[in-house]
Amino acid sequence: MIRTIFLLIIISIIQVQNLLAQQIPHLQKVGNEQQLIVSGKPFLILGGELGNSTATTMESMEPVWPRLDSLNLNTILVPVYWELLEPKEGEFQYKLVEDLIIEARKHDLKLTFLWFGAWKNSMSSHAPAWVKLDQQRFPRAKSESGESQEILTPFSEETLEAEINAYRHLMRHIKGVDAGHQTVILMQPENEIGMLSSARDHSRLANRKFKEEVPADLIQYFQKNRSELNPEFLEVWKKNGFKTEGNWAEVFGKGLHTDEIFMAYYFAKYTNQISAAGKEEYALPTFVNAALNRPDVKPGDYPSAGPLPHILDVWKAASPEIDFYAPDFYNPRFKHWNDLYVRQDNPLFVPEHRFDNTVAAKALYTIGHYEALGFSPFSIEQIPGEPLSHKEKKLAEVYKVIDQIKPLLNKYRGQGKIEGVLLDKEVSEAKFVLGDYEFTAEHTFNLGWEPDAASEEWEPSGAIIIQTGENEFYFAGFGVSLKMKNLKDKSGRVGILKTDLGCFEDDQWKVYRHLNGDQTHQGRHIRSFVDDVSIQRFELYKYD
Ligand code: DGJ
Repeated sequence: MIRTIFLLIIISIIQVQNLLAQQIPHLQKVGNEQQLIVSGKPFLILGGELGNSTATTMESMEPVWPRLDSLNLNTILVPVYWELLEPKEGEFQYKLVEDLIIEARKHDLKLTFLWFGAWKNSMSSHAPAWVKLDQQRFPRAKSESGESQEILTPFSEETLEAEINAYRHLMRHIKGVDAGHQTVILMQPENEIGMLSSARDHSRLANRKFKEEVPADLIQYFQKNRSELNPEFLEVWKKNGFKTEGNWAEVFGKGLHTDEIFMAYYFAKYTNQISAAGKEEYALPTFVNAALNRPDVKPGDYPSAGPLPHILDVWKAASPEIDFYAPDFYNPRFKHWNDLYVRQDNPLFVPEHRFDNTVAAKALYTIGHYEALGFSPFSIEQIPGEPLSHKEKKLAEVYKVIDQIKPLLNKYRGQGKIEGVLLDKEVSEAKFVLGDYEFTAEHTFNLGWEPDAASEEWEPSGAIIIQTGENEFYFAGFGVSLKMKNLKDKSGRVGILKTDLGCFEDDQWKVYRHLNGDQTHQGRHIRSFVDDVSIQRFELYKYD
């Protein structure tokens, strides 16, 4: 009897596990954060995006795979090109997509597909020839002076229909070949949508829409979410008297800012319909990426109307079938932009960051501080065949330690127990609180011990700190030194009871070295040097 009950319990556990594993990849709320779930388990993207043309043939990919292996990635972001998927209208070529999926599986990599459809960096360069050549059926956007652009207008029903058809076929096919494996985990419809060189499309179709009333669904969204709207957008609406009726210029005022709002609504609406149609076939989560604008540059001079922070409310209103919006980094002010993207519960994912010597530290910071869904430098394959450069080795080491601490990140996600720091010459110190302790993190170059500290450029350093008990913490990172203060007692004094350097093997913590003496500055600091990506477990205590 007991044996039967026991067996039944085991069988039900296995069934539940199987059911969970069959679920389509999706986002799930945990505490105050979101998490990507793949095959029933949390999945953190330690990613890299391929250069734009690398995945156009499998031959071109051949030398790339070993390179990707050496970087400890678990996901690659790879374009799927409309022009190659549907070179002739209605004739679909799936081989490349299928081969990429099969090969990615062999390399134990997940895929995020970037659908280079109607728009790639504002332009329509990846539309198939039959679209490009038929400008009657697939009209172009026009500049203010009436010149046709190499940009498809988002106001054409024909274009939308043709693209929906292609994207539907793609998603149906991915479902067919991959739903049982879940190699493809995320989709990005379009790439860095944005209007150039005028802030809005001045084609006949666009002009007609511009004169119409602002659609009721948009106004209703603003009314319903008024207290939650991003302040910079609320200000624009307020400035014109919170109008709820009228055409675009009447509701938002005349000017380039209104041109951008108008375009954002129609770009978002179009992309939403692509995403929705794809989800009807296979409901993978989708996100849209943005080319960040530079301050003091006017709409139209930067790729405007993408999902940028100042118009994200418009995108959210018009694209409920898009799960989140993501910043691409080729600009400075990493923290500033990320802070703008995590508003209104938008989970952070950095799908592109210039592959420079800051990425290793930023991966740690993004995943620690923002509890992001993942991080991914752009042009990850660099030059296949060449030995790994310093920045590549560093990223590989950082990805390895993040992968090891994944169980801790999953366990403590969304509970205010995880922090991340990013330090450089300009901001070489940061404070944060975990439990009863205030931490001061310093770039270890501040301590003057390392020879490179005198150099003009400091390699940024970064770390993730996780509180796993009242007095117990894990540190993963490099080039960071931690000082602690006890916030509970008047004296504020804190001692280090124990610090171990180690690693996780099969999710079990294994000590490699007990740290003391110089390695903890005689018990004063937790520290790791710039060339020393490490995981440390430490225990603190309070004394009078
Ligand atoms: C951002 C785009 O999204 C990428 O596809 C690529 O073009 C980079 N810029 C720059 O190389």
